[in-house]
Amino acid sequence: MIDYNNLLQSPLQQLKQQGNYRYFLDVNKSARHFPRFYYTTENGEKRTAVNWCSNDYLCMSVHEEVISKLSFIAHQSGTGSSGTRNISGNTIYHRELENTLAALHNKEAALLFNSAYLANSTTLETLGQLLPNAIFISDERNHASIIQGIKASRCEKRIFQHNDVHHLASILSALPSTQPKIIVFESVYSMNGSVAPVKAIAALAKQYNALTYIDEVHAVGIYGEEGGGVVSETGAHIDIINGTLAKGYGVIGGYIAAGKTITDAIRSFAKGFIFTTSLPPAICAAANTSIQWLQRNTAARTTYRNKVQQLREALSEQGIPYVNNASHITPIPVSNATVCKQLSDELLASYGVYLQPINYPTVPKGEECLRVTITLHHTDKDILHVATSLRKVFLKYDLLQQRIQQPITASI
Ligand SMILES: Cc1ncc(COP(=O)(O)O)c(C=O)c1O
Repeated sequence: MIDYNNLLQSPLQQLKQQGNYRYFLDVNKSARHFPRFYYTTENGEKRTAVNWCSNDYLCMSVHEEVISKLSFIAHQSGTGSSGTRNISGNTIYHRELENTLAALHNKEAALLFNSAYLANSTTLETLGQLLPNAIFISDERNHASIIQGIKASRCEKRIFQHNDVHHLASILSALPSTQPKIIVFESVYSMNGSVAPVKAIAALAKQYNALTYIDEVHAVGIYGEEGGGVVSETGAHIDIINGTLAKGYGVIGGYIAAGKTITDAIRSFAKGFIFTTSLPPAICAAANTSIQWLQRNTAARTTYRNKVQQLREALSEQGIPYVNNASHITPIPVSNATVCKQLSDELLASYGVYLQPINYPTVPKGEECLRVTITLHHTDKDILHVATSLRKVFLKYDLLQQRIQQPITASI
């Protein structure tokens, strides 16, 4: 007899030995006190801590207008959409949100998905199936959802070195001019926080007649005059823009924005769009409110950037080594999965600082880090507290001895 549990225990055991097993903290999230939250320890003690690893960068998940809209439309329309977009699950709220997204990205159309993961995987898979002769040219640091989509398309692929336009050019120039090419990359890379040379990639795409696909998941709401992301900030032309409603916009769902024909092709053929219940109307209405609020309130982005700067100055003052990239994501390299978990546990238990360890496979082995993300609601006191707590914990684990004099400030 096959013992399936036994077979599955072995990879789990391996994960634990490597320090990569994932432990979840059951957070009692507080709309009123975010980023502070409450939790109960294993021995039943009630505690509070401050979240320093949230993707709710602009605190839109706790924004009064967004919450009110969600609750108002839920009372009007109910909780679920009741069907797929094709069969009974298409509402005015879906259409309105897609119109807002198309306008935000200066595109003819937009298409909603239940998450940006699904938007990436199903759009890329479908594109490849519709253009079977195409070759994907993908940045080596692309997100798992992109890798999944390209794999599922069964198209040929080439990988270019991270953000390396020279390598990308050499790949493009070696391909036949008649072969369809799709360049796939992210604007802000989620874990190391590096920012793509979007304009240079767009120029190469034009030169070699390639289609461009960008993941702006960590950029929408935060960059660009109205929050349209790095593409809108740089004015580059990118054919297909992918974004999320779950991070900068604080709700849930994903989308693509593109020309009418591309969007219609994905709408008509993508299984991950067609065969699933659509987002609830109240979610669409809340996301629309969030986007529009951020389009109007440009000062939120300036305040946010200043906070990122303030955090980095505080880390520098405490001698904490961090990667001084051009985005709002501040990784603190640790380079060891077990130590990363120990630091994270100690920060939570002793200082009320919640910073989940970022380990393999989220980052390659050897690049384990603490990924610090500030939000609009972190206070000056919170910033000082996280920096001094990190210093104490790094000193305790003997991690600052050589590095303390010289924080890493190299750009990537
Ligand atoms: C770069 C990138 N793309 C896509 C996604 C998926 O976004 P969502 O959470 O909306 O599924 C993530 C999520 O964590 C991400 O980091």
